[in-house]
Amino acid sequence: MSVISVKPLFVILSTLSFLLAILLLSPSTPSLQSELSTISRNSGNSDIWSVKRIFEWRPCNWWLQSHLTPLPATSTGYIRVDCYGGLNQMRRDFCDGVGIARLLNATLVLPKFEVAAYWNESSGFADIFDVDYFIKQMNGFVNVVRELPPEISSKEPFRVDCSKRKGHFDYIESVLPSLLKHHYISITPAMSQRRDRYPLYAKAALCQACYSALRLTKSLEQKATELLEAIPKPFLSLHLRFEPDMVAYSQCQYSGLSPTSMKAIEAARGDDRKPWTGEAARIWRKRGKCPLTPNETAFILQALSIPTNTNIYLAAGDGLMEIEGLTSIYTNVVTKSALLSGEDFESMHGNTKAALDYYVSINSDSYMATYFGNMDKMVSAMRAFKGLYKTLFLSRRAFAEFTSEGLEGERLMQALWKAHKDDFVMGRGSALPDCFCEFKL
Ligand SMILES: *[C@@H]1O[C@H](CO)[C@@H](O)[C@H](O)[C@H]1NC(C)=O
Ligand SMILES: *[C@@H]1O[C@H](CO)[C@@H](O)[C@H](O)[C@H]1NC(C)=O
Ligand SMILES: *[C@@H]1O[C@H](CO)[C@@H](O)[C@H](O)[C@H]1NC(C)=O
Repeated sequence: MSVISVKPLFVILSTLSFLLAILLLSPSTPSLQSELSTISRNSGNSDIWSVKRIFEWRPCNWWLQSHLTPLPATSTGYIRVDCYGGLNQMRRDFCDGVGIARLLNATLVLPKFEVAAYWNESSGFADIFDVDYFIKQMNGFVNVVRELPPEISSKEPFRVDCSKRKGHFDYIESVLPSLLKHHYISITPAMSQRRDRYPLYAKAALCQACYSALRLTKSLEQKATELLEAIPKPFLSLHLRFEPDMVAYSQCQYSGLSPTSMKAIEAARGDDRKPWTGEAARIWRKRGKCPLTPNETAFILQALSIPTNTNIYLAAGDGLMEIEGLTSIYTNVVTKSALLSGEDFESMHGNTKAALDYYVSINSDSYMATYFGNMDKMVSAMRAFKGLYKTLFLSRRAFAEFTSEGLEGERLMQALWKAHKDDFVMGRGSALPDCFCEFKL
């Protein structure tokens, strides 16, 4: 923590958390006592990671060998992928676009990262990812050009927006004709596209682009390495999401949040996002729709026998609420804002911060997430690619189900341990996308 500089707020926070921890640890808190006794429950100090696994995910062979399929002799035209949203959403769409370009036997142009709308900034693809490396790694998988040939470089591409298309439509049928007609098109891939009917070489291009060709730029990687080095080792990277907008969006109701948090959530609610009430709220929660609070997260971590003195890097955006629910129990929590110097942090854009969290999380000893968003999917896939298996998604659904059955304290911990252990043993829950194959250990 002291490596670079520490923000005063963080000090106050951790001091408060520490005091709270002492308060909670006093013997007059019966529920916590029973919680503590469960830490020795799993004989000795074996945590979830020491459980023997049966399956794990590895890159599929057809991907690793697919550069053996020769590229088409002639190109059908040029495709630019236009990407929107947060860093990991843009990356997801870009990877999809690479697969589509190969499917159509087209030549890929560097993508457009349209970030202004979401992040209020203007960092494009080349500001985040190493372009030379990308081109080199894609050699044999798909044709990529850095510059368009002069006869088309002057015009804007013809835009084909597939992003609103649902279900399975055929890119060859619906996009290839525009490509052949206009020679240069831009596409935004559909949200949910079935790729099971892609030829393997197209799937392989996607996999290669997404997991083996995207590396942060030198300067970003240097910043990220600094951050990584400042984190006490070994450490767990915890992607915790409990921000006002996503809680409001979940339409879940919470009791026991602070008035400040409640106000922030109310303010983030639109008229069409009123929380469910009564029976509907109960069913909604039981289906695993409600984000875990930091407090619930701390409870589950304990159920998984993660020691409370574990070094935890908080991979989280700004505006995380109720963080004391975690830091009062797990006292060695560090954040970007505490580890990076003030000026560095202040001048950093959303995408840059997201890139740092991503980098730390694919290099941490272990990774846990309370949500299953684009970042979590990227990180779990990259960790699998690198052979880092200590990756786990905390189950909102298991937590909701067990608590709705009235389980609490020790019994709740037992049930949570079992549910997560089974996921970990079977390699379930990380739901790796098309590029990875299950491997029996
Ligand atoms: C792309 O090229 C392959 C041969 O390399 C061919 O089998 C396939 O039909 C082509 N697809 C399109 C859409 O032109
Ligand atoms: C975006 O940035 C501009 C100028 O820095 C600022 O005035 C505006 O409020 C910002 N918009 C959002 C949505 O943050
Ligand atoms: C966490 O939740 C438990 C039970 O729901 C509650 O007793 C405790 O006070 C909470 N702790 C914090 C720090 O919010």
